[in-house]
Amino acid sequence: MKILVTGGAGFIGGNFIHYMVNKYPEDEIVNLDLLTYAGNLETLKPVEDKPNYRFVRGDIADRPFIFSLFEKEKFDVVINFAAESHVDRSIENPDIFVKTNVLGTTTLLDAANAFDVKRFHQVSTDEVYGDLPLDRPDLFFTEETPLHTSSPYSSSKASADLFVMAYHRTYGTPVTLSRCSNNYGPYQFPEKLIPLMISRALADEKLPVYGEGLNVRDWLHVYDHCVAIDLIVREGKVGEVYNIGGHNERTNLEVVRTILRALDKPESLIEHVTDRKGHDRRYAIDPTKLETELGWKPKYNFDTGIPGTIEWYLNNREWWENIISGEYRNYFDRMYGGRLK
Ligand code: NAD
Ligand code: TYD
Repeated sequence: MKILVTGGAGFIGGNFIHYMVNKYPEDEIVNLDLLTYAGNLETLKPVEDKPNYRFVRGDIADRPFIFSLFEKEKFDVVINFAAESHVDRSIENPDIFVKTNVLGTTTLLDAANAFDVKRFHQVSTDEVYGDLPLDRPDLFFTEETPLHTSSPYSSSKASADLFVMAYHRTYGTPVTLSRCSNNYGPYQFPEKLIPLMISRALADEKLPVYGEGLNVRDWLHVYDHCVAIDLIVREGKVGEVYNIGGHNERTNLEVVRTILRALDKPESLIEHVTDRKGHDRRYAIDPTKLETELGWKPKYNFDTGIPGTIEWYLNNREWWENIISGEYRNYFDRMYGGRLK
């Protein structure tokens, strides 16, 4: 099988490529990535010499480029991870989210139709369901929950989801779609909560917790997300949506305190800063469909997955220090300059 993975130089796509290249030596994996600020080829170092792996640089929203790539390569499967993925950046600049997340997805869908791709898998997020109230722990997102977005990021992802499902209904495109909760694990860009807090705590810098820190996220180890996507692509039913999550809800403060304890750093590093605009309160996935129909079971829960993740950031300082010393630093100053005391 020839598989196109888009966004493979990012966090989840990179972990997915590691998993696939090693698990399926007979499959050919092509990684297409634009290498935006979030793309980092260092992440692919462990697999770059494997005979079943190749990297191509390009933009999923560049129609002539995408069409000629699909014509030449004749992919069997397309798995679309490529996206602008950070909510805070989407609040600053929604345009690029529309271009990459919406136009990029429809461009790939058109190419998939034109060149007879056998499966198009869209990697989406639980954020398309909006948020749940904090005082209703009995409520969870199912695949039937209406889309009800809050941020430009989630709106662009929901829009892409609607196009994916519309292409299936209108043109018969053989699609599947997965919506996962917050991921953590190796190679996550240090603008997202967990790697940001680890890297700053190690430098004894203040940890900016938005608002009260009581917002809840449902954390899944990236490895379990990768296993789920592979399973859905191979055994999932065309035209179906699958939620992915492992019932690991934590408040942001709980997450930050866990990191501080593991690193033996004081809680006085925590600094409450102005809340994110439109901040979603709680995400919580009901993964029953994936578990019962496809037999998926996560390997990690938060308590078993987080120690290895922290250890990875300790053992791979060079990977994230290179990022922090670059463009990311300017971004951080712009984002937090007026917020930290
Ligand atoms: P990421 O920001 O780490 O990586 C995104 C990758 O896409 C980068 O390598 C970037 O260079 C590439 N990219 C961006 N624009 C591109 C374009 N126009 N053409 C080609 N490549 C482009 O993101 P991530 O956290 O790995 O997320 C991957 C996917 O998973 C996204 O679709 C995201 O919405 C979804 N998702 C993420 C999470 C999470 O917790 N991180 C949870 C659920 C779903
Ligand atoms: P993030 O990792 O950006 O993921 P998402 O917004 O997609 O859930 O943020 C996770 C949670 O952590 C979210 O509620 C916002 C909060 N947060 C902070 O409190 N401080 C920070 O510096 C960041 C980046 C996030």
